[in-house]
Amino acid sequence: MATTCEILEPNTHNLSRCCALLRSGEVVGVPTETVYGLAGNALSAESARRIFSVKGRPLIDPLIVHFPRPEAALPHIEAPDGFAELTQRFWPGPLTLVVNKRDSIPDIVTAGLNSVAIRVPRHPVFRSLLEQVEFPLAAPSANPFGYVSPTQAGHVQKTLGDRIPAVLDGGESQHGLESTILDLRNPEKPKILRHGPVLKSEIEAVLGKSVIDGTQGASTSAAQSAPGMLTQHYSPNTTVRLMEDDASLLQSSQSTSDLKVAAIFQTKPRQVRDPHHYWFSESGDLKEIAHNLFALIQRLDHMDYQQIWIAKANNTGIGEAINDRLGRAAAKFKATE
Ligand code: TXA
Ligand code: MG
Repeated sequence: MATTCEILEPNTHNLSRCCALLRSGEVVGVPTETVYGLAGNALSAESARRIFSVKGRPLIDPLIVHFPRPEAALPHIEAPDGFAELTQRFWPGPLTLVVNKRDSIPDIVTAGLNSVAIRVPRHPVFRSLLEQVEFPLAAPSANPFGYVSPTQAGHVQKTLGDRIPAVLDGGESQHGLESTILDLRNPEKPKILRHGPVLKSEIEAVLGKSVIDGTQGASTSAAQSAPGMLTQHYSPNTTVRLMEDDASLLQSSQSTSDLKVAAIFQTKPRQVRDPHHYWFSESGDLKEIAHNLFALIQRLDHMDYQQIWIAKANNTGIGEAINDRLGRAAAKFKATE
């Protein structure tokens, strides 16, 4: 791929360069604490169109709009009950709220919906950028549509480098998983649309009521109730096969196979004899697993393995979000099996 995209140190000069690019309608790669984003002016239909085209994303899949502070979002939305409590507790941070929008947000950003997904991110580089530009920034994850999300500036350069001028380097994304999405349009029935770093139980504790898990029954069709939640998503090019846990992965990986297989364990096995065995974490800490998840899958995807076999995580805490992403990465394999 012919790369024209520069990886920029996040100094004052480069932040100003990115602001100038954004003001001119361009899109740039930005670091966030969840994954890297592909940012453009959220109040410009032209910039939003550019995001969709760079990403190869269908126009039915709405974008998340990022603000520097919660107050900056208020002119563009109707704040429902629970909004103040949730934003006070979780912003800046990895929680996206779906609320009713006002006309200032162009229809293309929300795929024609009356609602908009919004978030105040925590990453200091992205926040500086948001403080400097005069408009909120729409930013999906900075990966080609359907591919694994980027957690390093190099991932963005590798996959979108021929289509964007620059990516700001903010180091490795802390969480490594996209934000939790909560639909708050009906405050009586708040609903999780995507699992992520902020847990359902933490949201319930703040709201003092139970939250619906709306992530089940995601659709492969375009006519979906929660837009963008396609079953097959986050897929590397190499076929992914999921195993129930580390023990069953170890067992399967010991049987002979004609295929060239990489095996990824959740936790480093006690004895590593096979050079094609990898792990997300030395200790099995779920936050560390999430942090390394997409980066390791992407690294192995660029090696010449025919299949990547991955053990599922314990389905507790952020393990639920990890297993959600793994299930989607493996969906291509299931569909063709
Ligand atoms: O952590 C994140 O959320 C990252 C960083 C860059 O902020 N962004 C991200 O954006 O993951 P994206 O575009 O890859 O995923 C956003 C998803 C959409 O696919 C869709 O499922 C949901 O957010 N979404 C956006 N607007 C929505 C709306 N109005 N109603 C329901 N779901 C919406
Ligand atoms: Mg994405």
